[in-house]
Amino acid sequence: MDTTPAPFRAPAPVPHTRPLSFAGFVLTASRNPIEIWGSRAYSEPYVRANWLNVPTIVVNDPAAIRYCLVENSKNYVMQPLRQRILRPLLRDGLLTAEGELWRRTRKAMAPVFTPKNIFGFAEIMERRSSAFAEQLEELPGGLTDVAFQMTLLTYDILQATLFSDDITGEPQEFAKSMETFLARMGRVDPLDLLDAPAFIPRVWRLLGRRSSGYFRRLIAETMARRKALMENDPEAAPNDFLTLLLRADGLSPSEIEDNIITFIGAGHETTARALGWTLYLLSQAPQERIRVEEELDALLPELPDPTTWLDRLVHTRAALEEALRLYPPAPSLNRTALADDRFGDLEIPAGASVLVMPWLVQRHRLLWRDPECFMPSRFLPENRDRIDRYQYLPFGVGPRVCIGASFALQEGVIALACLMRNLRFDYVGSRPPFPVQKITVQPRGGLPMRVTRRR
Ligand code: HEM
Repeated sequence: MDTTPAPFRAPAPVPHTRPLSFAGFVLTASRNPIEIWGSRAYSEPYVRANWLNVPTIVVNDPAAIRYCLVENSKNYVMQPLRQRILRPLLRDGLLTAEGELWRRTRKAMAPVFTPKNIFGFAEIMERRSSAFAEQLEELPGGLTDVAFQMTLLTYDILQATLFSDDITGEPQEFAKSMETFLARMGRVDPLDLLDAPAFIPRVWRLLGRRSSGYFRRLIAETMARRKALMENDPEAAPNDFLTLLLRADGLSPSEIEDNIITFIGAGHETTARALGWTLYLLSQAPQERIRVEEELDALLPELPDPTTWLDRLVHTRAALEEALRLYPPAPSLNRTALADDRFGDLEIPAGASVLVMPWLVQRHRLLWRDPECFMPSRFLPENRDRIDRYQYLPFGVGPRVCIGASFALQEGVIALACLMRNLRFDYVGSRPPFPVQKITVQPRGGLPMRVTRRR
């Protein structure tokens, strides 16, 4: 008799089988966009719809994804809705730049994100994560919202790798105003969904603009101070993102500022979500958690150098990658077709919205066995070859693939290893956490967990 426990089914919205009404669509899309998908979107290669008079095509077929995002990517630009939401926040940063500005910025960034520079951040990631794990041990009663805690940890790591703690002003104040800014600016306004003219004010964005002024000023002052240090005493400048960006060829001071804000916006909450969901999933799958704990117990004492962890801690990495499959922090890659196009029998008219959704592709019934189950073994080195490059897209693909992917993976594995080395995380919520898309996929109501010492 097989006594292996059944794999854990990860909580998710139940796909509806009947089309939503117009009002239902607008309400659901502004409240939780991942709930708009019906069962066909999880089982067919393409889904066509006509939303608010815009032809919309959801592309799930890996070959068609490759065509749209790589082979003919020039025909597919960032969707206007996404730009309307993100551009006021990130301005000319890499994530929202287009055309020539994007090409120039991406080229200027290449020397910033070399493997050597990313490895250079491993030690600080390890130090900050270990210190954070020690603080968690001190929590009274061990109870905490792990979703929130992970945003503190990844924010701490990001600001250490960006500025080496060398920011003007009060760090706590800075972090708080950044949180408010992201929470307000990131909301999808029903007026945007309805394509209302730009002159009609969006309340959340107006509120967000207030906090924006404060931290933009702090970043500008921090940059000016660092620039002066680099000119007066180049040797003393820390080897962090700020120094690397100030050295990069072809970026103006305001572009550097926009990119720092982009890194904070794109690179802190995403990784926090990945860590939170991984700890939750492992808490529900004790056999998988034991595998990770045994790996850490056996290998960490022999691996003092954290740059090797991403390759050597295969079970830890597999758990993180499987959590990125089930809960991709960036659930949707939205493009608009510039000209009429065709891939096989798929016709794409000019102006169509083309949606490649990691949320759907990574839970697709034709592409994955037991797609809703948490099974990290899919990502062990011996099984990896079975996963098509275009069916697993947590970091996107093609020219606009996430520039911070190797930073995020290294950070994720190092942080998990440091957190789980001595601690155990148990979910104590009365109901399973429900995923909600608010730019990232986050657990509604957080992740109440009990943190205890395991060794
Ligand atoms: C688990 C963590 C992360 C996830 C899941 C993630 C996901 C993504 C995805 C899916 C895209 C492509 C968007 C598209 O094609 O429409 C992207 C782009 C981007 N990401 Fe990440 N990201 C993560 C971490 C980071 C980090 C740590 C940084 C920076 C330090 C970063 C910076 C960026 C930037 C600048 C872009 C725009 C690239 C371009 O358009 O050329 N990301 N990310």
